[in-house]
Amino acid sequence: MGITVKILVTGGAGYIGSHVVKALGEKGYDVVVYDNLSYGHEWAVLYGKLIKGDLSDSELLSVVFKSERFDAVMHFAAFVVVDESVREPIKYYRNNFVNTLNLIEACIKYNVKRFIFSSSAAVYGIPEKIPVTEDAPLLPVNPYGSSKAMVEQVLKDITVSSDFRYVSLRYFNVAGADPLSRIGQYRADATHLITVSLRTALGKRDHLDIFGTDYDTPDGTCIRDYIHVDDLSDAHILALEYLSSEGRSVIYNCGYGYGYSVREVVEKVKKVTGVDFPVRPVGRRIGDPPALIANSSRLKQELGWKPKYNDLEYIIKTALEWEKKVSRLN
Ligand code: UFG
Repeated sequence: MGITVKILVTGGAGYIGSHVVKALGEKGYDVVVYDNLSYGHEWAVLYGKLIKGDLSDSELLSVVFKSERFDAVMHFAAFVVVDESVREPIKYYRNNFVNTLNLIEACIKYNVKRFIFSSSAAVYGIPEKIPVTEDAPLLPVNPYGSSKAMVEQVLKDITVSSDFRYVSLRYFNVAGADPLSRIGQYRADATHLITVSLRTALGKRDHLDIFGTDYDTPDGTCIRDYIHVDDLSDAHILALEYLSSEGRSVIYNCGYGYGYSVREVVEKVKKVTGVDFPVRPVGRRIGDPPALIANSSRLKQELGWKPKYNDLEYIIKTALEWEKKVSRLN
């Protein structure tokens, strides 16, 4: 391990955060999770200590920063549902932007100079060129994407006059679960395609809606680049090691560089589960870009990222095992 040892993970009890906490713990990092448990769960924190708190609470943040003395911060805590952000933009700007300012302010005040930010492919909006590279213009088409792009702007501005350094990781469609089914996505109101499809296959829902079949794509449905959450976790560890070795601030796309249409994902879920569940084409979902595929060459070349689970079937299988476990518990 490098010189960085104690890491604050905001949102570390949530879906992606908890998988990164697992990876950090396995590597021997000292982890402190800060999570308001609005969507996170205590059981999901496999390593380190959990502090229940909200990022709007600057006083608590100060207390935590003062007593723990972090070497780096990883910031996951955010709302993530694109169409909800269209309906409730202020909710998204407040939590994803304003609260992030509180966190960054605490970092500056308490001299924490390394920051890893959970950004999103949503910052690109509807990219002109696909696969999209990091230097494509940021033209988000929904408040969720805008809130992430605004934080990236703040991070960039801070580095101009200080030695604060960050890595911004722009996630594409994160999916799958821990292969040992200890953690996974856990939201009764989940909206993500693979989760919703699996719940339909398991009989928890009567059918799956396909949001839009008239896009300018080969089968008319949207195309996404699905990345296994453990490969994404590895990218965070590499980013942390990179910042520990005094690397400059940088932005990386995180995806496999291959896209599947909604119909292709549905077919794969049917194959993996062996269930031919009902599917209903409906109108487009507001705020959905037609296709998002990553060019992740920079992450591979500069940080040596080697994805291990670039296989949609594997991603779906790990998510299926998790969903089965969840349905046994509920
Ligand atoms: N979809 C359906 N039916 C469903 C659910 C989803 O047809 O029941 C479609 C969506 O319309 C979209 C695709 O499946 O075309 C993927 O949708 P998800 O909701 O799984 O994911 P999104 O692409 O909307 O968003 C996800 C994350 C965002 C992130 C984005 C980046 O939720 O945080 O990936 O690509 F910004």
